[in-house]
Amino acid sequence: MGFKNPFGEDRLMDTVVLSLGGSLVNPGTPDTQYVASLVRLLRGMKCKFGIVVGGGKLARQWADAARKKGGSEFDADEAAIKATKKNAQIVIDVLKKDVNAKVCSTFDEARKQAAKHRFVVMGGTIPGITTDSDAVLLAECLGAKRVLNLSNIDGIYNDNPVRNHNAKKFRRMSYAQLIDLAGKNDMRTAGTHFVFDFLACKLIARSKIEAHFVHGKNLLDVRKAIDGKPHGGTVVR
Ligand code: UTP
Repeated sequence: MGFKNPFGEDRLMDTVVLSLGGSLVNPGTPDTQYVASLVRLLRGMKCKFGIVVGGGKLARQWADAARKKGGSEFDADEAAIKATKKNAQIVIDVLKKDVNAKVCSTFDEARKQAAKHRFVVMGGTIPGITTDSDAVLLAECLGAKRVLNLSNIDGIYNDNPVRNHNAKKFRRMSYAQLIDLAGKNDMRTAGTHFVFDFLACKLIARSKIEAHFVHGKNLLDVRKAIDGKPHGGTVVR
């Protein structure tokens, strides 16, 4: 006997999970125009979506404010999680229908909401991780076979493409290659974080979830990645 599909009897639709960078949704002020264009694209596709929204600049500001007040790293993470949820609510407000009305705080809640709606939106969950890991956990929870990481970077490079203009983009990578690269990047100085966090890399590998890394504003690539077709970013499988 298999697990019950969290989406009830609607078995024909695949689920795709998006890890949507906070810097795309809220680069300083909410970019509702961008979110609306992404939503138009998603509505036109034949799948269900789990969307986990990152904190971006707001998360860093709120975490710093918590530290300045004498808070611990736990407190800073909790403040940053609030920022991810604020950004997630922006996405819900643009979606308006077929979506949970309030940001889900737990995977259990997300699973319940996913049974009722075509879209389920959440932010961060517990201190100590990032929304990349939340996105992969949501994919595991909903039985999604594919995760898309939408950010300001158009794929995974062998070095930081901002600092090293000779950095090479991977078109395809194995889970082992990604884990190796993310591990090496984990040891670099603060402020130069890798495109996908180490735990998230380990999680996609354990569940053999296909991961696509594309620039979030390249909607043509976003569409191709949702369909699992070749695109200009990086595919990890
Ligand atoms: P993000 O996932 O947004 O980190 O979480 P990011 O790498 O800065 O991603 P972008 O810039 O949005 O693309 C922001 C912070 O929120 C806390 C962590 O402090 C993280 O660095 N967080 C997030 C948690 O503690 N737990 C979570 O589940 C999610």
